[in-house]
Amino acid sequence: MGYGTRVAIIGAGSVGATIAFALLLQKITSEIVLVDIDKEIVRGQILDLSDANFISSTQIHYGTYQEAGQCDIIVITAGAKQRPSETRVELIERNYKILENVIGAMQPINSGSILLLVANPVDILTYIAQKLSGLPKKQVFGSGTFLDSARFRLKISSLIGVAENAVHGYVLGEHGDSQFIAWSSAQVGGKPLLEFSELENVDKDALAKEISGKAYEIIKLKGATYFGIAGCVSSLVQCIILNQRLVRPLSTFIEEYGCVLSMPVVLGKNGIERMIDVHLDSNEKIKLQQSAAALKEICDKYIK
Ligand code: 2OP
Repeated sequence: MGYGTRVAIIGAGSVGATIAFALLLQKITSEIVLVDIDKEIVRGQILDLSDANFISSTQIHYGTYQEAGQCDIIVITAGAKQRPSETRVELIERNYKILENVIGAMQPINSGSILLLVANPVDILTYIAQKLSGLPKKQVFGSGTFLDSARFRLKISSLIGVAENAVHGYVLGEHGDSQFIAWSSAQVGGKPLLEFSELENVDKDALAKEISGKAYEIIKLKGATYFGIAGCVSSLVQCIILNQRLVRPLSTFIEEYGCVLSMPVVLGKNGIERMIDVHLDSNEKIKLQQSAAALKEICDKYIK
């Protein structure tokens, strides 16, 4: 992959359009194909985005599902969004059908394409897409807890006064209510995070709640979240195009649990290269198992 990469975005709502805008600002894709069942929305988004086209020479145009299935990277945002206080998992009934239709309409998908799931519940939808797309699992993954980890790093950076990218720490498990912070492996400058005096009197459970509840707060205030996820997704697309091999917590199939959850993985031009077996203490391991069990039960209902 390189600068001639074609990226398809399925779903032209706020998340899809903001991802398109972020990609346009990054100037790393030559073509963005926007697809939506609602022809008026997609036309409106393309007209609006075309006004920002002078920033980069990215071509943005409307495409069919078939055309999207031939793109190098296919970002799936199509689906119902959370209503205030609704959990991500509660979206599965509505979003399973949408995903099934989208994947069916794109077939036959190019065997080298990468499918990046963004719609929620992202872990369960990634599992379903791995089964339905026919693509190797390393090419089908979800944005997972990358956004939650960014929220965590932002919070820590303000508490201890360092840049966000100096905070090496992850939120893992479900991109949802059973997620957990992997405190035992988190560090700044090689020093374990839990040894920083600035964090001594911080209530860790309250902090974890604040991170996992941030999406609910944003949805309550403005109806949806889209800038954070668009920033995450456009940086993942860049990581693939430039073969950066960054380590990101993404929704990936975990053999041990037989389901999809977020763990740190190495992301390159062919998708997920490998998973990093991050150190977890016994309490964090239990949380991961609980997250896995909850998700597996739902996945098994949809895919036998
Ligand atoms: C978020 O965490 C709602 O999953 C979306 O912002």
